[in-house]
Amino acid sequence: MEFNTKFAIPEKNPVACVAAGVFESRKLSGAADALDKAAHGQIRELLRSGDMDGKMGSTRMLYRVRGVAAERVLLVGLGREKEFGEKQYRECARAALAAVQETGASEACLYLAELPVPGRDAAWKARQLVLASTEVSYRFDRMKSKKAEERPLAHVAISAVSKRDASDLERGVREGHAIAAGMTLARDLGNLPANVCTPSYLAETSVKLGREWKLAVEVLEQKDMEKLGMGSLLSVAKGSHQPPKFVILRYSGAGKKDRPVVLVGKGITFDTGGISIKPSAEMDEMKFDMCGAASVLGTLRAAAELALKLNVIGLIPTCENMPGGAATKPGDIVTSMSGQTIEILNTDAEGRLILADALSYAERFEPQAVVDIATLTGACIIALGHVCSGLFANEEGLAGELQAAGADSWDRVWRLPLWEDYQEQLKSNFADFANIGGRAAGSVTAACFLSRFTRKYDWAHLDIAGTAWKSGKEKGATGRPVPLLMTFLIERATK
Ligand code: BES
Ligand code: MN
Ligand code: ZN
Repeated sequence: MEFNTKFAIPEKNPVACVAAGVFESRKLSGAADALDKAAHGQIRELLRSGDMDGKMGSTRMLYRVRGVAAERVLLVGLGREKEFGEKQYRECARAALAAVQETGASEACLYLAELPVPGRDAAWKARQLVLASTEVSYRFDRMKSKKAEERPLAHVAISAVSKRDASDLERGVREGHAIAAGMTLARDLGNLPANVCTPSYLAETSVKLGREWKLAVEVLEQKDMEKLGMGSLLSVAKGSHQPPKFVILRYSGAGKKDRPVVLVGKGITFDTGGISIKPSAEMDEMKFDMCGAASVLGTLRAAAELALKLNVIGLIPTCENMPGGAATKPGDIVTSMSGQTIEILNTDAEGRLILADALSYAERFEPQAVVDIATLTGACIIALGHVCSGLFANEEGLAGELQAAGADSWDRVWRLPLWEDYQEQLKSNFADFANIGGRAAGSVTAACFLSRFTRKYDWAHLDIAGTAWKSGKEKGATGRPVPLLMTFLIERATK
């Protein structure tokens, strides 16, 4: 899908579809009012008749409206004017785009950026419109023998209110496009089955991405990891026939001496739990256990597309967690790259084991900040549900930046504590510490485990167990938290 911005009079715009908003009070937005005037009150009459009530997210498609150049006029319900805000803006955008998708229109012009959203500028509105378009048109049929038909909607124009707005809108479209493409990449990788999306596949995809976007990509093999002493990571891969990989991607948008932001993504391409095997119900969803890695790839792609003036490094430790004759057993003790020994009391707490060595590896880049992204704990879903990701950080400024980026991109996070008090739960009688801390505060003790490998730099951990994918009828990867990470990076790059 292509996007552009332009300033065009609604009633004189000869496109296949124009979309404008109406409030529940039957108050018309500026564009809807202009259309109504051109149509000699046809729209107001429709509202009076009760055929369109302006309820949030409702839509009504009109054909060949007199006095209007466009083939179709789409009215979008905006709900109550007083309540109109960010959430409402996103909802009405999605409803409008879904309604246009239903038709045969190949081009639509949206008059939604004119709606006032408290605290948000034109760039934000454009970003949201592009993201909504991509979201409603996303399909994953790569594994189906019959592909769905191409949808006709190929162009979405976003109408500017004024000339001054136009450049803000254009920036928003550019950012929205890059973020959307990054999300699509992350979703596709997440949705692929684990027999296709193996550690080797993730490594090959990274190499291809590097060629396409001029990223330097390096893939470490098992023997390289052995030399580095990554005993924690390698202990997870032992039960699998798939070789583990460790991918390093570098995007260089700033000077050589500029310290990079390092993103570390959990890349478990399938998590059976290992010897501490998981129950079989819904175990298929453990193919999504590499969504952290996928979000790192999506974010690097987007950073490169936007040519951000920042150095970003992506680290992807990736392997399968399988049971087997060679698999790690509960009680086994391994030595991590940091030299610290770990008693593996539960082989299903494997994400933290692969992240531990990746976080030690991150030290060599002298990073300005490290953010790891992981579908780390079921406990995070119990705590926060599917609304926001869990945030942990060892530095207040970084935590604040990520919270703000999450709010801005509606890819929200909620901060959880990393207090010393919780570290006690990781005590081991036999090794430096254990890889689990009991049932209480499972997400916090997982983060505490990671914190033992991140003492040398500013670090944040995002637990995306509840946000990376949806279950049930809408089962599929969401592409989160690419919007959050990109918003964070854009801010760091312009600071
Ligand atoms: N990948 C899972 C976490 C997970 C589970 C994410 C369900 C989303 C849905 C992780 O590797 C895991 O198994 N964690 C265990 C940790 C426990 C053994 C301490 C968990 O959450 O049960
Ligand atoms: Mn697990
Ligand atoms: Zn896992």
